[in-house]
Amino acid sequence: MTTPGRQGGLGEPGFEVDPEAGAADAQVRGSDTTDRSAHLAAADGALLRADEVVAGYVPGVNILNGCDLYVEDGELVGIIGPNGAGKSTLLKAMFGLVTVGSGSVVLRGETITGLKAHSLVRKGVGFVPQTENVFPSLTIEENLQMGCYQSSGRFAERFEFVAGLFPALADRRKQRAGSLSGGERQMVAMGRALMMEPSVLLLDEPSAGLSPALQDDVFRRVRQINKAGVSVVMVEQNARRCLQICDRGYVLDQGRNAYTARGAELAKDPKVIELYLGTLGKVP
Ligand SMILES: Nc1ncnc2c1ncn2[C@@H]1O[C@H](COP(=O)(O)OP(=O)(O)OP(=O)(O)O)[C@@H](O)[C@H]1O
Ligand SMILES: [Mg+2]
Repeated sequence: MTTPGRQGGLGEPGFEVDPEAGAADAQVRGSDTTDRSAHLAAADGALLRADEVVAGYVPGVNILNGCDLYVEDGELVGIIGPNGAGKSTLLKAMFGLVTVGSGSVVLRGETITGLKAHSLVRKGVGFVPQTENVFPSLTIEENLQMGCYQSSGRFAERFEFVAGLFPALADRRKQRAGSLSGGERQMVAMGRALMMEPSVLLLDEPSAGLSPALQDDVFRRVRQINKAGVSVVMVEQNARRCLQICDRGYVLDQGRNAYTARGAELAKDPKVIELYLGTLGKVP
């Protein structure tokens, strides 16, 4: 169970467990997603869900071998797992960037499997890829304009929203994104994805390559975005911190669901610690 307000206790002194993490998932049933009936029962009515998704990049070579995932309205969901587990591929499968061979992706009850990214953006799905997620030669403002090119009349209103979350971006709106630090670029990338007012944001490793202090900042921002009403699915290499802030987490391994539970429960699950969090994950 999460102890509200206490320190992480996961070898990460100074990083607070979010007292509200887990609050939005009162309906989580069981921690074993290998039990499909638990997923089916819990995912009913979810904002976005993926069911038995099989997908890959090359015909005949499946990377995802039947993954399930759901995110409810208002939830922050984390995906962790080893390199090559298929975490990015799962996000891409939900965003129409990789061919889904079988299984389905459903948004608010509507099947969106295989729809192209621009259609998904219009329907309220935002995606921030792991790399190359800003236009370096464009200014911050121009990057954000690119984010709402499908709805340019809303730029001023959406800019205000994004500037409220990331005031530094507004202050430096005329600066080229290429001249920004890694952390600032992540803000631009998230800001760009927020310009179309997504109901759900898919984030691929937002903290990658950042210093520990900047990573903390990114995690706080993600939580802030979530609290502003945007549901989030976040892939993270920084598994412990991800589990500390997310309502629920999924562990993917070799293209399959390995574990799922509330973030705080996964973070203290001995099997998850041993297999995926390493010795630093042990609670002292
Ligand atoms: N564009 C691609 N073409 C072919 N194979 C790919 C492509 N992208 C990824 N793969 C393969 O798919 C598998 C899963 O990759 P994926 O990027 O989804 O893993 P991941 O869990 O996100 O890993 P990481 O933690 O390293 O980001 C890997 O074996 C990888 O080599
Ligand atoms: Mg990845």
